[in-house]
Amino acid sequence: MSERETWATRAGFILAAVGSAVGLGNIWQFPFKTAQFGGASFLIVYLIAALGIGLPTILAEFVIGRKSNLNTISAFEKLGYKNWRIVGALGLFTGFWILSYYSVVGGWVLRYLGGSVTGAYFGAPAEYFGQISAGMDALVLHAVFMALVIGIVAAGIEDGIEKATKLMVPSIVVILGALAIFAFTLPGASEGYAYFLSPNFDALASNFGEIVPFAVGQAFFSLSLGMGAMITYASYIDGDESLFGDGITIVFLNSFVGILAGLVVIPLLFAQGIDPNTSGAGAVFISVAGAFGSLPAGRIIGVVFFAVVLIAALSSAISLLEVVVAWAIDNYDVSRPQVATLLGGIIFLLGVPSALDTAWLGWFDTLAYKFFLPVGVLGILVFAAWVYGAPAIDELMKGSGLGEGVGLTWLWLARTLVIVAVVVTLALGFQTLFLGENPAIIPPL
Ligand code: PHE
Repeated sequence: MSERETWATRAGFILAAVGSAVGLGNIWQFPFKTAQFGGASFLIVYLIAALGIGLPTILAEFVIGRKSNLNTISAFEKLGYKNWRIVGALGLFTGFWILSYYSVVGGWVLRYLGGSVTGAYFGAPAEYFGQISAGMDALVLHAVFMALVIGIVAAGIEDGIEKATKLMVPSIVVILGALAIFAFTLPGASEGYAYFLSPNFDALASNFGEIVPFAVGQAFFSLSLGMGAMITYASYIDGDESLFGDGITIVFLNSFVGILAGLVVIPLLFAQGIDPNTSGAGAVFISVAGAFGSLPAGRIIGVVFFAVVLIAALSSAISLLEVVVAWAIDNYDVSRPQVATLLGGIIFLLGVPSALDTAWLGWFDTLAYKFFLPVGVLGILVFAAWVYGAPAIDELMKGSGLGEGVGLTWLWLARTLVIVAVVVTLALGFQTLFLGENPAIIPPL
């Protein structure tokens, strides 16, 4: 078997991981959920979740990945815990699951990119979304998006993912920054800022049971945690200096881009007198797209905006596919382009229901957020902190130059508070998942 691939540089690894984290979750979901759940008060809960729960978890994934240098299933075996492969297997399954509908949304983005050039959605954004979001159109663009993802992953770690994300991630930050400055110049933007950034503790208090699981779920989804993406990416590290530094950089940049996206989208909506408190799959496509329709330079802004969303979506989608591709390459004598195509094709098929009916897409998304990712995170944390334990600290600290205290703090935080928080999140989501009139677990048949 040929030698396993590695990142060419440490920056390459960090950018790839940031590319994985920064995606539709940041631009499509985050600003709207923030608006819906009380603006800045949600932001605070989210930041606590990202730092307090997300960071320890990302470090756990890095440790498992870098120590084993293997895919998310074989990693557990290599570390000496064969039975724990079940956690990796769940991650692999979740990778298939998420990419199947993520790619459908990626297809919408492609469609809106074209629609911005021609101004197709300007007149009646809601109708346009209704037409293109489900059915043949959506299916074809889902296929195109998957083909792009397959193309990058097939080119390999260094020549595909690293090269692509090195270009993509800086572009995302620069373009979103430019759009945020543009949004700042619009009349009415200041009301948007007030809404986005001033805390509304009443809204927080009255929806606490809903907000907390969502904020934690959002932190997991947004940081690509609980399904082996970060394990897989870290498995290609060759002599990195500080996992700790990498983790903090990624969490920081990911939150920064989410907030930046909010600073683009929310003022834009306020400037056009559109209520940002719209939820559901179509929010960004209907409300934001609608705002472009009435802007003087709407076409150009639309093209730039959907281009950045597309880049963000692609740089995340490749990490989802890489999880399953890495597993196949590590275990079978197959070529990267072949498996990328084969597995990408299977994922495409799994996404067909979501492409034909947005109710399916919503169902896949809800289960990923509320169930698969938190369960996956729980498994990874229990493994890294309780089962693997002391060697995990050694791996975490290796090359970091930090004192033993930092590692012990991580271990005990992960062992106690973080695990409790994940269990509470799962328990809070339990009601909507399994009980009540329309339990989310039931598919929309
Ligand atoms: N983090 C990505 C986003 O926010 C989604 C993702 C989830 C990517 C899990 C990889 C793994 O859009």
